[in-house]
Amino acid sequence: MRPALLVTRRIYPEAVEYLRRHAEVDYAGTDDVLSPEQLLERARGKQAIVCQLTDKFPAEVIERLEGVRVLANVAVGYDNIDLAAATRKGILVTNTPEVLTETTADFAFALLLAAARRVVEGHLFVHSGQWRRWAIDLLVGQDVHHRTLGIFGMGRIGQAVARRARGFSMRVLYHDVHRAPAPLEAELELEFCTKERLLEESDFISLHVPLTESTRRLIGAAELRRMKRTAVLVNTSRGPVVDEAALAEALARGVIAAAGLDVFEREPEVHPRLLELPNVVLAPHIASASVETRRKMSLMAAENAITALEGRRPPNLVNVELWTGG
Ligand code: GLV
Repeated sequence: MRPALLVTRRIYPEAVEYLRRHAEVDYAGTDDVLSPEQLLERARGKQAIVCQLTDKFPAEVIERLEGVRVLANVAVGYDNIDLAAATRKGILVTNTPEVLTETTADFAFALLLAAARRVVEGHLFVHSGQWRRWAIDLLVGQDVHHRTLGIFGMGRIGQAVARRARGFSMRVLYHDVHRAPAPLEAELELEFCTKERLLEESDFISLHVPLTESTRRLIGAAELRRMKRTAVLVNTSRGPVVDEAALAEALARGVIAAAGLDVFEREPEVHPRLLELPNVVLAPHIASASVETRRKMSLMAAENAITALEGRRPPNLVNVELWTGG
């Protein structure tokens, strides 16, 4: 009998075609977000779920999943899934690393440049007919080249951002729970430092940590106060890594100069004060959103799900400790 699989929300059609060649697929093809009860209802009788970061799998939901062998997340981050609960229940969890690394790093840099050089303010200024003449200090921003970039999290995406920074002749500081291997530090000219030093010395700070209990609110009021008044904060990781209310307050009071944000604490809600500030560039969680990358992410999740259903180790297994197969 062919296995049964649920795709919770719309993905690229190539991935759906691939899945249909291997399984009975329950696919509504909409962007509706399923409630926990709807998710459990649709998961009934399925052996695999291709899910997205909007699908929440806390322990209470995972414990009620019957017969599901794999949760294939269409994202590199998997904080929407209680990994420990999935592992306890013997459910494989997979993600989509690597394919989105360069695309996400591009976008982190886009936000950095946009916030530093006031690109969105400039656009709105022209668009609203306010532009009368060239002026010496019209929308003056901050130089990016030859400045110091501080990167929290020197994983794949952090490294890709550091590579871009070299093209801008930037000095790169980083902080991580694990120090990068010496050859990588040498190649990218990275300087490992404490969290405090990174906050104090960086002109730009970009966040590339996964959301875990130890990174939740990594940046709060105290950290913002430690930054330069001219600092620009960029977040393309996960919203709860930053205390959004504290950031809005810091931006409004000039504690730091600007921010570029792709992720928020309660997406799609954005702290109302952030919506009123000119010195923040906002994006709707699109850092990995290039056509090619989103297509690859869809296919990768589909392959992870089918590989698991076929009893083979999925290429992007997260809870590797569950793997006992050949
Ligand atoms: C997107 O945020 C992802 O984790 O892939």
